[in-house]
Amino acid sequence: MCGIFGIVTDKEQLLGPILVEAARRLTYRGYDSVGAATLNGSKIDLRKDAGRVDDVAARYNLAEMTGQRGITQLRWATFGEPSQVNAQPHLDSDGDLVGAHNGNVVNNVELRQQFMAEGLLVRSHNDGESCVHAVERHLNRGHGFIDAIRLAHADLQGDYAFVIGRINEDCLYAIKKGSGLVVGLGEGFTCVSSDLPSLLPLTRTILRIQDGEIITLWPDRVELHSVKDGSPIAREPETVTQTMEAVQKGGYAHFMLKEIHDQPQVAREVLHMLQGSPDVQPVLDRIAAARHVYFIGCGTSYHACLAGAVYFGQLAGKAVIPVVATQFISQYLPAVGPGDVGIFVSQSGETKDVLNALQPAEQRGMTCYGLANVIGSTLTKTTAAWLPLCCGYEISVPATKTFTNQVVTFLYLAYRLAGRDPRELDSIPELMEQTLALAAPQVEAITPSVNAWNDLYCLGYSATYPMALEGALKLKEITYAHCEGMISTEFKHGPLAAVTKGFPVLFIAGPEDVPLIVSGINEVTCRGGRAIAIAQADPRLEANASDIITIPVAPPQVSSLLAVLPLQLLSYYMCVARGYDPDFPRNLSKTLTVD
Ligand code: F6R
Repeated sequence: MCGIFGIVTDKEQLLGPILVEAARRLTYRGYDSVGAATLNGSKIDLRKDAGRVDDVAARYNLAEMTGQRGITQLRWATFGEPSQVNAQPHLDSDGDLVGAHNGNVVNNVELRQQFMAEGLLVRSHNDGESCVHAVERHLNRGHGFIDAIRLAHADLQGDYAFVIGRINEDCLYAIKKGSGLVVGLGEGFTCVSSDLPSLLPLTRTILRIQDGEIITLWPDRVELHSVKDGSPIAREPETVTQTMEAVQKGGYAHFMLKEIHDQPQVAREVLHMLQGSPDVQPVLDRIAAARHVYFIGCGTSYHACLAGAVYFGQLAGKAVIPVVATQFISQYLPAVGPGDVGIFVSQSGETKDVLNALQPAEQRGMTCYGLANVIGSTLTKTTAAWLPLCCGYEISVPATKTFTNQVVTFLYLAYRLAGRDPRELDSIPELMEQTLALAAPQVEAITPSVNAWNDLYCLGYSATYPMALEGALKLKEITYAHCEGMISTEFKHGPLAAVTKGFPVLFIAGPEDVPLIVSGINEVTCRGGRAIAIAQADPRLEANASDIITIPVAPPQVSSLLAVLPLQLLSYYMCVARGYDPDFPRNLSKTLTVD
């Protein structure tokens, strides 16, 4: 994920403060590099570097930049390390075009080779630069700007949006293909941005852009053209009347619900990042050669560690010890030494329990890697290498999208370690979309009857066991009901005593575990309990369970990941029906920096 913003005004003026403010508002989309360019007559002023907005803005005095047009970009590194040369915007070969993108150009490597073979000056490894050269190459061949963008669109594979401008013109151009892009119209200016909330402080008159549309921004108007045939598109602007907070929630009632629905897109982002990351192979090599491998985290992140350990064992035959950070210190630290590898997992990267375990482990010679969402957090600064979760901000206290991206990352690493083609995982985002669409009405339908109880169990087995723990944690966290997650086969060893008439027990059934889960279901239903199965459609479950929440067909490990989505929804619906706020549950905090 990256963020772009462009503005076109009617005369040369101070644009720096507007660009810096826009960059601050887009910070959640990426914050490892920042850049700004202003265009005025025949001049382009380009300033950029690795670092956060305030840091780069201060070092390069972005606030003093003037021009008639301006572009800013926030980068979350995928192609090319965070560095000045890879920061955006980028110039074309002779420096009369400047542009920046958001998204992923998947044929970036091939395109860079083509551009160099054609004699274009390629300065970076970044795919945003490829967007600029893709337009440049067709302008050089004599095409007009709109046609050059149309032809560039045919060259650039992947999902992206970019904004680009040329010296000695009054306008900027932009295109949307798969990534977000919204246009704003104000008094004496027009602007374009990756998201709507970043435009609202400037104007409430907006144009929503569709995929396959090219935008020309003039100071007083905006023109749209179809990328297909170049034909003009007519669209009336609309006025946004919602509050800023409502807009930030993307039309959802709560951040949690929005973040649940963000999961397919952020899964796409993290898979793409992993495919291009130079850090993956060295991490895998160390894991393959390690004496002991530990996955270490707390709460939800610990559940991701458990899932990761299951995937590494099942797929790659690699034993991994998943452990809660505090227990790692007391139980395993004396045994830790060189040759051991630990992956420390924390969405915030600041959880004290995790950081407390990291330092002594490093001192004992363990190779420590991080898996974190917040770039620049202590975990990302203190580990040998780290992988980003690519989720953007997660505002709601209950972790949802950061959990699923932790799980996706572990699944990807397990596939690679096993020598399996990780492109098999590319279907995950779509399967998640299908799961949410399929599960939402089914879950809503059972919510009132389940919500009548203040005690429930959530059971899984094998790859779904960590998901049962995570589902139970979500339920406890926001409904304040007691919900215990456990391995399904353990239920008969004691907790079965709790079952009375109608007592709800949730069973997550992986496709390979159905016979075992059916036994567990029958042990509950024959005592009058209610067994709610979350599983792929299966006649054996339909014949035995009291209710079934169907999820799409997928291989066992992917299926386990999908199963957590209905549980997130169930906890959300139950919480709202109880009149609680899911985003800010009582007694909890998003970042736990205490012992
Ligand atoms: C639950 C939740 C917490 C966190 C835990 C660790 O929804 O969010 O259980 O997972 O406090 O936090 P991080 O991942 O930031 O280390």
